[in-house]
Amino acid sequence: MRPSEYVDKARLWDRLMALARFGARDDGGVDRQALTDAEIPARAQMIAWGRELGLSPFTDAAANLFLRLEGHDPTLPPVLTGSHIDSQPTGGKFDGAYGVLAALEAVQAIRDAGLTPHRPIEIVAWTNEEGSRFSPGMTGSDLFTGTRQFANVLDDKDAAGTRLGDALAHILDADDGVPQRPFGFPVAAFVEAHIEQGPLLERAGIPVGVVTGIQGTRRYRVRVHGEAAHAGTAERHERKDALMAAVRMIAEIDRAALEPADTKLTVGLFEVTPNAPSVVPAEVLFSIDLRHPDDAVVDRLDARIREIVAAAQAPCRAELRQIQHSPSVIFHPNIRSQIAAAADRNGVKSQDIYSAAGHDARQLHYVCPTGMIFVPCRDGISHNPAEWCEPDDLFAGARVLTDTVWQLADER
Ligand code: HGY
Ligand code: MN
Ligand code: MN
Repeated sequence: MRPSEYVDKARLWDRLMALARFGARDDGGVDRQALTDAEIPARAQMIAWGRELGLSPFTDAAANLFLRLEGHDPTLPPVLTGSHIDSQPTGGKFDGAYGVLAALEAVQAIRDAGLTPHRPIEIVAWTNEEGSRFSPGMTGSDLFTGTRQFANVLDDKDAAGTRLGDALAHILDADDGVPQRPFGFPVAAFVEAHIEQGPLLERAGIPVGVVTGIQGTRRYRVRVHGEAAHAGTAERHERKDALMAAVRMIAEIDRAALEPADTKLTVGLFEVTPNAPSVVPAEVLFSIDLRHPDDAVVDRLDARIREIVAAAQAPCRAELRQIQHSPSVIFHPNIRSQIAAAADRNGVKSQDIYSAAGHDARQLHYVCPTGMIFVPCRDGISHNPAEWCEPDDLFAGARVLTDTVWQLADER
């Protein structure tokens, strides 16, 4: 029997529901933001499930969590598979968690089949994929692959002023006997299972997507400095109204990003200071999240955004800081064909699909052959408590992941 025939649909579902209890929201969603207290029991639960299977837990200075299944030849670079367990503040039960728990299910299926792979397999949960508390996201996979340097992230602060370095120490202190390893050990391949976070697979009635690549992104923070004044006495022509300047910028940027129509532009964070009804706003901070598959479009809009901010700032003063620039990537053809072949072997219908959402696989793509497996989510809803997936689709994706990971780990 193939290891994928040992994948247990109920066990996978039960673990997803169990993990969702850590940071559970009253509305059925999940708020388990990176390095918060909600993540501590979730991490401990992953370690406990791994230890029950005889897997060895490891971590690193970025608190990336690894659960290792030893291979016949422990000296060989492992196959990594996983995703993230941190969530957005209004997250769902499946974003990230599915990839980590499908990886655990794959390893358990391989063990239940009585098999030992030629090379090790490691399940991974990358730290701070979402970037909702500490921005930008992808911290764990960035540091592991060298896309960012450890010293440069430690002083990043969340809205409450907590340093990322202190939050990492808090999480690592809570670990029970988990050895740390240096970043960036050699990896044979990385495969990430994830919900699509879009509607295409569900509309097509296809349970598994073979992800071809991920669209590029640039992310910014814009701070507009004005001057607080009395709402009743300050003359309009004398005001330095930070909010009105920000609104002019955002309206102009929105117009610029209307073409091409598939450009994704989001201003998701918007903070006004002092945020008092009778005070002319002294300062505004807002985010810009720009994405498109064609790097030339992202670069052209980057230049346009910089022009607009500079032109619209007067009589205030604006600072634009780019916090992330990730070009579009196309995944390794061999991994994509391995995933498609695994779907065929397991009688699972699959189709190619491009990822509009960002994932840790983007960073791993720069250090090893990397691919992703998507499964449908209802109405494509994600980053929303209503996020939902059908157990049969999750099961199909886990079987394809198991077969793919086994093939990659057992090939000589
Ligand atoms: O923003 C993203 O694309 C990812 O889901 N964090
Ligand atoms: Mn995700
Ligand atoms: Mn997400």
